[in-house]
Amino acid sequence: MSRVISNKRISPGGNFFLLKTSPGNGARMGQFCMLRSWGTYPLLSRPISVFDADGDSVSFLYRAVGEGTDLLSKLREGGDISVGRPLGSGFPNIGGRVAMVGGGAGIAPLYLAAKTLKSSDERNTADMYLGFSDEPLLLDEYGSVCDALAFDVGGFVTDIVPCGNYDCVISCGPEAMMRALHEKCKTARVPLYVSLEKHMACGFGVCLGCSLDTTRGRKKVCADGPVFKSDEVF
Ligand SMILES: Cc1cc2nc3c(=O)[nH]c(=O)nc-3n(C[C@H](O)[C@H](O)[C@H](O)COP(=O)(O)OP(=O)(O)OC[C@H]3O[C@@H](n4cnc5c(N)ncnc54)[C@H](O)[C@@H]3O)c2cc1C
Ligand code: FES
Repeated sequence: MSRVISNKRISPGGNFFLLKTSPGNGARMGQFCMLRSWGTYPLLSRPISVFDADGDSVSFLYRAVGEGTDLLSKLREGGDISVGRPLGSGFPNIGGRVAMVGGGAGIAPLYLAAKTLKSSDERNTADMYLGFSDEPLLLDEYGSVCDALAFDVGGFVTDIVPCGNYDCVISCGPEAMMRALHEKCKTARVPLYVSLEKHMACGFGVCLGCSLDTTRGRKKVCADGPVFKSDEVF
């Protein structure tokens, strides 16, 4: 069992929360954890991407949208939460000039991705493009871990990404956004990695509830992903 260090609402009028837990669990960029802060109901734990991680803590950025995340939002400092081990393959070891494109709650895994990319080689650059439907979130925090940050509110963040300027693009957010980005990256001949969301039950490859068709056959988003090369899945 993990302990809640803090659980703060970060959007004054909205339903986004930043949850920090202890101890650390060795999570890498692009992985997720199956969170649970309740007993028998709801039955399933909820998959949430790792926002940040170090030796002592793991943090999550989540939007309260239903029963499970609403229960998470009620957690107080010192409370108990089951975080479990980090799951999924995460983002591959990318390098060079990288664009990171996130929409809504999909911005979550990009924070640790930018930190990891920048710390692995000082020549790497990370430019962040964030899209929000109504209010921007955590701009100072994201700005502090990347080389340049641009954001869009209420429009299409994909319109402001010059894909051809990069060696690689990674993305997480609404499927329509990632599909539009896939078309732009295909035209620019730049590889794109997308982090997919599917309803999940077990979270570690046993129930087959999160399967999807790819160019490499049927894959499980929880165990084979959640990150895939975009031309394998779109
Ligand atoms: C690998 C992965 C990483 C994720 N990372 C984050 C994250 O970092 N931050 C965040 O806010 N959310 C994230 N999600 C989505 C999050 O898991 C769902 O919002 C959450 O499970 C909803 O649970 P709930 O009980 O609050 O809502 P429910 O009452 O179960 O459902 C509320 C609404 O959310 C939809 N929904 C439920 N689960 C999912 C899902 N897995 N994908 C898409 N829609 C869903 C339902 O269809 C319904 O419309 C992630 C999902 C996956 C699969
Ligand atoms: S959630 Fe069970 S196999 Fe993916």
